[in-house]
Amino acid sequence: MSDVQAPRIDGERQWQSHMEMAKIGATPGGGVCRLSLSDEDKISRDLFVSWAKKAGCHVRVDRVGNIFMRRLGAELDLPPVMTGSHLDTQPLGGRFDGAYGVLAGLEVVRALNDAHIRTRHPLEIVIWTDEEGCRFTTKTMGSAVFAGLRPEADVLDGVDPDGIRFGDELVRIGYAGPEPCGGFPIKAYFENHIEQGPILENEGLPVGVVLGAQGQRAFQITVTGEEGHAGTLPMNLRKDAFLGAARMADALNAVAFNHEPWPVITVGHVRVRPNSRNTIPGQTVFTIDSRHPDADTLAAVKAEMIAVCEGIAANMGLELDVLETNYSAVATFDAELVQSIREAAARWDLPCRDMFSGAGHDACKIAEVAPTAMIFVPCKDGVSHTEREDATPEDLAAGTQILAQVMLDAAEAV
Ligand code: GLV
Ligand code: MN
Ligand code: MN
Repeated sequence: MSDVQAPRIDGERQWQSHMEMAKIGATPGGGVCRLSLSDEDKISRDLFVSWAKKAGCHVRVDRVGNIFMRRLGAELDLPPVMTGSHLDTQPLGGRFDGAYGVLAGLEVVRALNDAHIRTRHPLEIVIWTDEEGCRFTTKTMGSAVFAGLRPEADVLDGVDPDGIRFGDELVRIGYAGPEPCGGFPIKAYFENHIEQGPILENEGLPVGVVLGAQGQRAFQITVTGEEGHAGTLPMNLRKDAFLGAARMADALNAVAFNHEPWPVITVGHVRVRPNSRNTIPGQTVFTIDSRHPDADTLAAVKAEMIAVCEGIAANMGLELDVLETNYSAVATFDAELVQSIREAAARWDLPCRDMFSGAGHDACKIAEVAPTAMIFVPCKDGVSHTEREDATPEDLAAGTQILAQVMLDAAEAV
């Protein structure tokens, strides 16, 4: 633990910025829709960058649109202490998933500025591009390229369901930057996030110290049958691709219960061609999201999932194409940074507990190239990826206070 106490952060100022940000893409149900590289994503980036510049940060954008906002250190060449998250959301997402992590970083910089505290190492806030992965092929795109886990060209050439190319959208919204992706050292990376589960709320704790995250495998499944007239083709002569996909979704759900503890398996996105009331569906494309804390179980689940889909396709005379769109290894965070979070929580008298993340985060990618840890705060009823997602200003402030302390400890006050 360092000798220097971080300044008290301004929870009210952080909340005001949060509510300002939540207006961009606000949905009637109280949530947010800021799909990656949409107009709303651009407006939220512009707003955040204007705040960061006002706080004295130097801004760089890399070739996949990750935005780095640096508060210079006393020694210019030292690696930064970095924090951040994402501003893109689910189609019916909440106000806090992602936005909290970048706004917490901004509040740390603002509080250090107010207190006239300088650090040896630079501090850097980062907005990662396309964490959510619900528009283009997969998730944590920007951080995966930064960490060298996914080729840049792969991401730029990805298309959304309307065939719009990621790289073209990046240019359109003005965030195709000149900087190469990654390739510079980071002293420490921290990410604040709402828990997205019920543990902290149930235990009445303001802070979770995150030890790591479960692994994930995602797939795109294409089922091809044959279109036909809904009124004329007898039931026994049909090759209904949607019916096949529906049977697969049910069988995939059952796979989860073959393992202990249960993996989570979700079919969340479905496209039916031609999607007409009176045409038998000729093709159906759907996604599978599967997760488990143990890598071997996750591999076994993959094999079982493919086998059940193949069985159903064969029985129904349908063609099947399986594409693995994402693999995220089980993440383990840095023991020293994790300990620094526990110590900061004790110093600020904030009760906390160790925990694992069920959700994926940019931190899981950055953990592959830099010492990384995460700080969780409670969210109401443990829900996320819904307009109902909620968190209190006090809990958000508590997590940011810890972030201020661990960033200052790592960056060394001068
Ligand atoms: C991100 O939100 C994820 O866990 O899929
Ligand atoms: Mn998130
Ligand atoms: Mn999310």
